[in-house]
Amino acid sequence: MSDNAQDWVAVDAYFAEALMGADPLRAGIRRANAAAGLPPHDVSPLQGRFLSLLVKAIGARRILEIGTLGGVSASWMAEALPPDGRVVSLEASPDYAALARRNLERAGLGDRVEIHVGPALDTLARLAKEDSPAFDLVFIDADKPNNPAYLDWALRLTRPGGLIIGDNVVRGGAVLDAGSSDDRVRGVRTFTERLGREPRLFSTALQTVGEKGWDGMTLSIVAP
Ligand code: DHB
Ligand code: MG
Repeated sequence: MSDNAQDWVAVDAYFAEALMGADPLRAGIRRANAAAGLPPHDVSPLQGRFLSLLVKAIGARRILEIGTLGGVSASWMAEALPPDGRVVSLEASPDYAALARRNLERAGLGDRVEIHVGPALDTLARLAKEDSPAFDLVFIDADKPNNPAYLDWALRLTRPGGLIIGDNVVRGGAVLDAGSSDDRVRGVRTFTERLGREPRLFSTALQTVGEKGWDGMTLSIVAP
């Protein structure tokens, strides 16, 4: 065995099968998303399970997701919540949001996920004004150039001791390129550097390989 991408995919499949077995719920969502031509940016099964595990570990009840796409990650987090828990998920595309809503309803999770359609920065400003209870966990997984702005909102909206997670911060190693002209790389670099400088946050990054190639997430705890 060598450390090539084919092996990463096989190892992902091995652990997914050994630890979780068949997953008809996500299989259905992924089929619907592929048929609708969504970009293949869903979290992998093991990444989704990792999000579920974090939700359970911190006893989260209120989750903010920035970037719904087809609802795969929302389904993993919603499933791990107690029945009165909620995922508030923000999606810019009305088409993606409608598909996600259908997917989540079909999965029996519709009443645990609220999808807000429109540019996330507008919705975040509205949520902040509404003065609703703070979130226990924020999953940032939308347009990467806006990551620094999403972090500002996440800091305002997360409770002390809560978790802020940033997806896709490695990008096949492109994150190393300080001179990148790719706005997404610049977005995740600025985001990461702010995490490191922010005294209210205790942060790490976890690189991942598998069916989504080489990528990773940042994980930050907000000071208690
Ligand atoms: C991209 C975005 C994602 O959310 C993801 O999980 C993978 C890739 C992207 O924009 O390239
Ligand atoms: Mg992502």
